[in-house]
Amino acid sequence: MYRVIERRMIVPNLHEFIVEAPAVAESVEAGNFVIVRPDEFGERTPLSVADWDREAGTVTSIFMQVGGSTAKLAALKPGDTIPTYAGPLGKETEIENFGTVLCVAGCYGIGSIYPVARALKAAGNKVHALIEARSSFLLYWEDKLEEVCESVVSLTRDGTAGYKGHIPRLDEILTLEKIKPDLIIVNGCTFVMMKASKVTQPLGIKTIVNMNPIMIDGTGMCGVCRLTVGGETKFACVDGPDFDGHAVDWEEFLKRRQTYNPEETQPLRKSGCASRHSGGR
Ligand code: FES
Repeated sequence: MYRVIERRMIVPNLHEFIVEAPAVAESVEAGNFVIVRPDEFGERTPLSVADWDREAGTVTSIFMQVGGSTAKLAALKPGDTIPTYAGPLGKETEIENFGTVLCVAGCYGIGSIYPVARALKAAGNKVHALIEARSSFLLYWEDKLEEVCESVVSLTRDGTAGYKGHIPRLDEILTLEKIKPDLIIVNGCTFVMMKASKVTQPLGIKTIVNMNPIMIDGTGMCGVCRLTVGGETKFACVDGPDFDGHAVDWEEFLKRRQTYNPEETQPLRKSGCASRHSGGR
């Protein structure tokens, strides 16, 4: 059993989740994910890793409460235990000195892009962050990102913080901020990753996305997480989750991502809560 150290809502619908898992904390790196189950009957839910403390043996994730499984996670309190906390899973994000890197993130991805930005800075890169949300009250961890980035730019759909609008403004923001990235890394919801990739492709800027398909085992056995990248079938859990955003078949991915919506959101609909899609990452 794994002890919950902290579980708190940091902005509406997004939870910080810290679990004591020394074996995971010992070897986790930026880009990895874990698979958790809130109880013996809960589904296996993949969560991106957002931070860790190797000495204390703890691992932090940020997850969005969007379905029945994440609703159970959101009800956990410090001191509770969970039966499954498997990881670190997936390949870590490739880190080297690329030059200037822009980290783009929204939703839970603001959390998971933090260790990526930290590792990039440690490798000698000039790191900038662009974080997006519907409104300013949904942004978080700006302070942590500011510690490891040259600049942290906000983008909100209602214009309450930073630039007003959404990811399609990315090329314009690069010009206005005078950022010339050699690489862009995007973490967050599918829409943000897809739109960012579509903006950067004609600009010729290499763009890595941290894919978030439905997963079951997380070890390449079930095939549920498959996606097409560059015409080849890949398993996000073992071949990724990082992939070239310009090579992902986004249309197919979106269709597969929605496959389990009815099952996952049914408990919330019954309880009167609204939900759009499944999974916490
Ligand atoms: Fe089963 Fe990836 S989650 S193969």
